[in-house]
Amino acid sequence: MIDVDKLRADTPGTENVIHLNNAGASLMPRPVIDAIHRYFDHEIAYGGYETQRAFTDELDGVYDTLAALINAHSSEIAISDSATRAWDMAFYSMPFSEGDRILTTTTEYVSNWAAYLQLRDSKGILVDVIPNTPTGEIDIAALDSMIDGTVKLITLNHVPTNSGVVNPAEGVGRVAREHGIPYLLDVCQSIGQLPIDVDKIGCDMLSATSRKYLRGPRGEAFLYVRSDFLSRLEPVFVETVPASVVLPDRHELRNEAGRFETWEKNFANVLGLGTAAAYAMEVGIDAMWERIRALGAMARQMLGDLDGVTVQDLGAVKCGIVSFEVEGREVTEVRDLLSERSINVSVSTPLSAPVDMAERGIEGLVRASFHAFNTEEEVEQLAEAVRAIA
Ligand SMILES: Cc1ncc(COP(=O)(O)O)c(C=O)c1O
Repeated sequence: MIDVDKLRADTPGTENVIHLNNAGASLMPRPVIDAIHRYFDHEIAYGGYETQRAFTDELDGVYDTLAALINAHSSEIAISDSATRAWDMAFYSMPFSEGDRILTTTTEYVSNWAAYLQLRDSKGILVDVIPNTPTGEIDIAALDSMIDGTVKLITLNHVPTNSGVVNPAEGVGRVAREHGIPYLLDVCQSIGQLPIDVDKIGCDMLSATSRKYLRGPRGEAFLYVRSDFLSRLEPVFVETVPASVVLPDRHELRNEAGRFETWEKNFANVLGLGTAAAYAMEVGIDAMWERIRALGAMARQMLGDLDGVTVQDLGAVKCGIVSFEVEGREVTEVRDLLSERSINVSVSTPLSAPVDMAERGIEGLVRASFHAFNTEEEVEQLAEAVRAIA
């Protein structure tokens, strides 16, 4: 059971706003804020390099915590400053050649989609979209039927940015394993929202962000690369420790996911990321997932009952991301009117998930994304505020 009062007491931001933008950037809980302050205070007092040395054990521990979060090994984790860059490090390190096919989703995030188009145009790779089932998630049977010798990567998101769907990541993993095809999974919207186990999913690479459902600071992210997949990737960038050991005439890449890291980091935020992961596990991700889904379902029901409001979510399994339109109102107008009532939501535009938005003919969506610290009263307040402007 989740102690919602405790979660809210841990989260200073809940005193100021009804925060329903957890899929954008959530509110950090007190332990995360304290960890960042503690590191910064030390840095201000004693110096950057000296503080890094003083915090060595805690910073090393962040890798163990992130690994525990996804059931990986700490040597399989690389910390990055953006999930897109973490994902890029894996994607662009794949040895593609002309005619290779990648399979992805209709709902792929815009930055990933941009990378597919770039390699299509520069290297002649082919990008094929896996069809969805009638309920809107990836059709595993269709995926299976698309596999042939030209498919060199299956790459998709677990939860899209804009439509409430939870994609069947484990089903995709079964197909990928059966055919021996590399599998790259983007869990930016699912990490912290629902349980993630890389062994069960069967992915080879995974990218995740700190600031969304994990409730860590902005500007942090991480990449997982399965240890026995590491040698299949040739990093696009190399540098000194922790990526490699550099001698006058050669460099030796580190035999761990750290080969994808940069030396320079915002270490206060790295500690914040690790603390956020520990906090999520302490609260209990299974219990949070149950509550988040329930709040999402309640919001869909209440918003769907309003005249002039259309909920646009898909998925046999739906998450805490609720997308809707208000007749006669621009999505940014709805966001701003809700903001005047201290309700934070965000918007999805055709730029967020270009293929999905174009296929569904949607110009824009208001996105209310619920976390376990949100309350049933906040769902009601959202519905009431939307009713007032619809
Ligand atoms: C599904 C998905 N993937 C990737 C990203 C990119 O994350 P970042 O902005 O940290 O690069 C986002 C961001 O909203 C996202 O929703």
